[in-house]
Amino acid sequence: MVRQNGVGVQAEDTKICVVMVGLPARGKSFIAQKAQRYLQWLSIPAKTFNVGNYRRNDAPQPTADFFSTTNTEGEKMRRAAAEAAVADMLAWFRSGGVIGILDATNSTKERRRWVLETCKAEGVEVIFVESKCDDENLIMANIRDVKTTSPDYKGQDPEEAAQDFRKRIKMYESVYKSVDEDGDEEDLTYLKMMNVGKQVVINRISDYLQSRVVYYLMALHIRPRSVWLSRHGESEFNLDGKIGGDAYLSGRGELYARKLPELIRQSTGDDRPLTVWTSTLKRTIATARFLPPNYNQLQWKALDELDAGVCDGLTYQEIKNKYPEDFEARDADKYNYRYQGGESYRDVVIRLEPIMMELERSEDILIITHQAVLRCIYAYYMMKDSEDSPWMNVPLHTLIKLTPRAYGTQEERFPANIPAVSTWRGKGSTAKHEDPSGSVM
Ligand code: F6P
Repeated sequence: MVRQNGVGVQAEDTKICVVMVGLPARGKSFIAQKAQRYLQWLSIPAKTFNVGNYRRNDAPQPTADFFSTTNTEGEKMRRAAAEAAVADMLAWFRSGGVIGILDATNSTKERRRWVLETCKAEGVEVIFVESKCDDENLIMANIRDVKTTSPDYKGQDPEEAAQDFRKRIKMYESVYKSVDEDGDEEDLTYLKMMNVGKQVVINRISDYLQSRVVYYLMALHIRPRSVWLSRHGESEFNLDGKIGGDAYLSGRGELYARKLPELIRQSTGDDRPLTVWTSTLKRTIATARFLPPNYNQLQWKALDELDAGVCDGLTYQEIKNKYPEDFEARDADKYNYRYQGGESYRDVVIRLEPIMMELERSEDILIITHQAVLRCIYAYYMMKDSEDSPWMNVPLHTLIKLTPRAYGTQEERFPANIPAVSTWRGKGSTAKHEDPSGSVM
């Protein structure tokens, strides 16, 4: 049996457990969260099972001693939490889950062997993903983060929390074994990451889906950066309410292109050069043409607007008149509807995958693209689900700055204050320019 999913055709039975490994404060939860978001964006059922959350049921705010190897009561509770998390994960696999992420330290060989055998018995493949880190700044940043965000230390004095957390790390260090450190875990499938993205070691990665996950994880880094998103300036087609095409900018669209360099400066707060990615269509290239000459520019076919097939160049009213059934079908399931001879939003996400991979690898990038494509990229960063994302309002003449943080993405908007038509359309409507106040974004 095979089935179709976000990344193409996949064997029905492939189920993978990604087992995080590493000391506390090594960015494991960050990696787990990124992987889950990426997979969900590709419509692959993925879910994270955080053992700490299970442990908190019995021990909501334990001190470091709880994690000592000589604390038999603590050891028992931690073991029970791991068992409960794995049991829930296996139940989730049985109900159709494809990639489960077990977020815990899994720092001993015994624990890893147990997870491996338990998963294998249920036909679930296992990849160990170890995050190692010797960069004191990174560790300190993670400790700071935990101090302020972890429910383990909620309501406590931040300095005492940090001290206790360091003690907890020491407890783990006394039993921690890096994967295959002693040469007796050579049979495991694993990926070891040093300082997130600096150096990686991979072992026995076998099938297609495993390599996809590993390839993505290898692209991650944690250097500070932002992604700027903008639609092209208003186009002549936008004025007419026509979709698709390869039209020039309108007069107001030209004004936006001229103002964009200033908006960028305002949003960066300095003169650092950005790398600019546009589509291959005239309106995005024209929008980028007043940016400083030290900005590298690259055109990607993958950033071209959603292909409307036989409807290219029509207004929504014309589509409704000529293809009434298509018009209805698209409104009923906008993410999956594929224009005759064209694309669906799902298709766009799949063609954007290499872009997202490259984006993860890169630092400051400005992307000038189109309404549907921008919705898909935005959905990746802001975790919008596929039902809502095609209906989001992404106004013309507005620069969006997204800054990935340890948990989630921070968003800022910089409107150019140059009027433009609205190209947002609500369900059922055939209006040329509709008021987007009823939109979901
Ligand atoms: O109207 C501008 C536009 O970029 C069209 O070229 C494209 O077909 C459309 O937006 C995508 O938006 P929607 O999916 O809401 O029709």
